[in-house]
Amino acid sequence: MNHQLTHFETLDSTSTYIKDNYHALSDGDVIIAAHQTNGRGRLGRSWEDDDGSLLFSFLLKGNEYEKYLNSITLICGAAMELTFLDLKIPSKIKWPNDIYINDRKCAGILVEGIVINSLEALVIGIGININNSEFPKNLSKATSLFLETKKEYKKEEILTSFLIHFDKLLDEWKNNPSLVYKIIANNDYLLGKKISLNYYNENKKVACLGIDETFALKVIDEEGNISLVTAGEATINK
Ligand code: BTN
Repeated sequence: MNHQLTHFETLDSTSTYIKDNYHALSDGDVIIAAHQTNGRGRLGRSWEDDDGSLLFSFLLKGNEYEKYLNSITLICGAAMELTFLDLKIPSKIKWPNDIYINDRKCAGILVEGIVINSLEALVIGIGININNSEFPKNLSKATSLFLETKKEYKKEEILTSFLIHFDKLLDEWKNNPSLVYKIIANNDYLLGKKISLNYYNENKKVACLGIDETFALKVIDEEGNISLVTAGEATINK
């Protein structure tokens, strides 16, 4: 995939920029901002940044991406795993969209669809805490590569490495999805953990049995019923 990179000093949100301008943009285009004034996370949350953050979004343009709707967030997660592993930093994927290092969140992925009559494109927004040296008190579960390793990293090198891994995994997914699945299943942060699952305001206490091959989360509730969860928010029980 051709990735044309465009840098901005400040945007409200790189993902909003792509959504607003997607007619003029091409498949694979990447928008990077040094800062965002209205960075968005999942479930209507905001995404805070400082100089240490890598903030970018890229466009997957065309209706052929519809078939990746359920898998694309975790394919990005797997690409992030490999990117960090190249730096010798082991990380885990917290289903459905976070990357954790040592029990703290280091990166988040926000996938949004552009739908006119049918799905026209996917916008993948990614925030990675790279050289951040501190976080506001309300983000007590956040970490950065710098805080974990005491080393500074070049943001553009991490972006390039991520895009290379992503392209390879997307191709791999078409021919041999089980290989991509293995990366995800072997780095499943929630596996074996007791969590509260919040879905449409319903809260359920369950234990995680792992991410299954359809990328749903397999859980068992307190009555012993096993189910597959395709969306929601998982909070670890203390
Ligand atoms: C999450 O953890 O809820 C997902 C966070 C995604 C944040 C990134 S930062 C770059 C891109 N632009 C946004 O407004 N959001 C994503």
